[in-house]
Amino acid sequence: MEPRKAMDSLTIMTELVLPNDTNVFGNLMGGRLMYWMDIASALAAQKHCNAPVVTASVDNISFENPIKLGNVVHIEAKVTRAFTSSMEVHMKVWGEDLKKKHKYKSNEAYYTFVALTDENKPTPVPGLIPESEEEQRLFEGALRRRQIRLILGGKMKPDDAKELKALFEN
Ligand SMILES: CC(C)(COP(=O)(O)OP(=O)(O)OC[C@H]1O[C@@H](n2cnc3c(N)ncnc32)[C@H](O)[C@@H]1OP(=O)(O)O)[C@@H](O)C(=O)NCCC(=O)NCCS
Repeated sequence: MEPRKAMDSLTIMTELVLPNDTNVFGNLMGGRLMYWMDIASALAAQKHCNAPVVTASVDNISFENPIKLGNVVHIEAKVTRAFTSSMEVHMKVWGEDLKKKHKYKSNEAYYTFVALTDENKPTPVPGLIPESEEEQRLFEGALRRRQIRLILGGKMKPDDAKELKALFEN
């Protein structure tokens, strides 16, 4: 399988916050935003591997600023690294008040997807080529983030997380 560039997976989603998307404070509900983020990041993963994917995990998300009713939501998703059958996707999310010409950051997050065969078995995905400085940085950190989520998910022993342990030993 030919490795693919990170940029080839770039997915941009734009949504408008409507009344049905908001909580009692008139802000976008966190669950609705996470749903849109799930779709944007799944599309980025599918662009990378050209196969159906499932969400394997969602890392912690901190909502820095509420997004108001009538504002626009921008989600940018890109694959940071591909492992065997799994891919980590990084997302940046902004809100925008078009009337005030004001764009503000909402959050950043990492979702992990696994490519599956028609029989629902994990299947290998192409490797990823990071190009820009930011892509290189995200690529390097992905190994440690993967180890954290596999430890938390009970799928890896802390002793086997070599790169993560090295952070604390040096
Ligand atoms: C994700 C899933 C396919 C993993 O299947 P599995 O039988 O545990 O497969 P494996 O242990 O062989 O792992 C397959 C890959 O998943 C990754 N993975 C498994 N659990 C993970 C987790 N909690 N976080 C991140 N990656 C995970 C493994 O690291 C592995 O990646 P790799 O091939 O790149 O090394 C399976 O647990 C599943 O189908 N979960 C439900 C997915 C779903 O329905 N999502 C929507 C939410 S309702």
